[in-house]
Amino acid sequence: SLIRKSGKTIGVLVPNINNPFFSRFLRGIEDEAIKADYVPLIFGSNNNKQLESRYVFESVKRAADGMIIASAVSDLGYIDNVLSQNQIPYMLIDQAPIHKSDMVDVNNYHGGELLAEYLIKNGHTRVVIVTASKPTRNMKERLQGFLDTYQEHQIVINSEQIIETELTKKGGYETTEAVLANKPTAIFAINDELAIGLYRGLGESGLSIPDDISIVGYDDIDLSEYVTPKLTTVHQPAFEMGTNAAKLIINRIENEKIENQKIALPISLVERDSVRKIN
Ligand code: RIB
Repeated sequence: SLIRKSGKTIGVLVPNINNPFFSRFLRGIEDEAIKADYVPLIFGSNNNKQLESRYVFESVKRAADGMIIASAVSDLGYIDNVLSQNQIPYMLIDQAPIHKSDMVDVNNYHGGELLAEYLIKNGHTRVVIVTASKPTRNMKERLQGFLDTYQEHQIVINSEQIIETELTKKGGYETTEAVLANKPTAIFAINDELAIGLYRGLGESGLSIPDDISIVGYDDIDLSEYVTPKLTTVHQPAFEMGTNAAKLIINRIENEKIENQKIALPISLVERDSVRKIN
């Protein structure tokens, strides 16, 4: 309708506003949206299925012109229905779309490979992986890249070495005991928040990083440079992921018929101080 066309609003759904990765991502969206005279309507779903659906519905009600969904949507079919019926274009971040769609791609598989190669190079054959109990596609790919690399080096990682938890600092902290039960020399935390939670748990267990145990994260949130020791991690261009997602969705809103576009952004290993070379 006319009202919708004049709204210039983008609904944005992220799983957890508390995670600095998403604050940066949102800053990117805002930056780009404002330039194009759009306003983002931001929702944090707290990984809650009811809230996710509710916020998608609210975006429709409030006449959003398009949506960016970075939440680990549990009911994609429902959301796709609601948005398609209302002719609202949307794009997903970090998960597989139902239909062909615009995409911002950061090579998670390669990120996993980079970390595994780095740990192997530093002599870490006994590792534990701490990941999300409800991982999105990107995290599964990250994990796969890591596992495949270890396998290529004939180093076995069995299922007890993969520990699942809630994707927060607290979630990471709470895995400490289970992690240590495996007697690893290194930990791969699927994101920095988990790693920082583990910093506390390891410290409380009297262990010192990296002398007693090494750890790597993923994302390169601002905090990772401010913990001691500074965290080795993979840099994800969260801000640029936001600006590009906004560019793509605005383009889609304004030119419904253009071909689907995919923007690939680079990642890189950021070597800091949380890994020790052993033997
Ligand atoms: O830290 C949050 C995670 O969720 C990131 O690694 C990012 O990839 C997003 O999916």
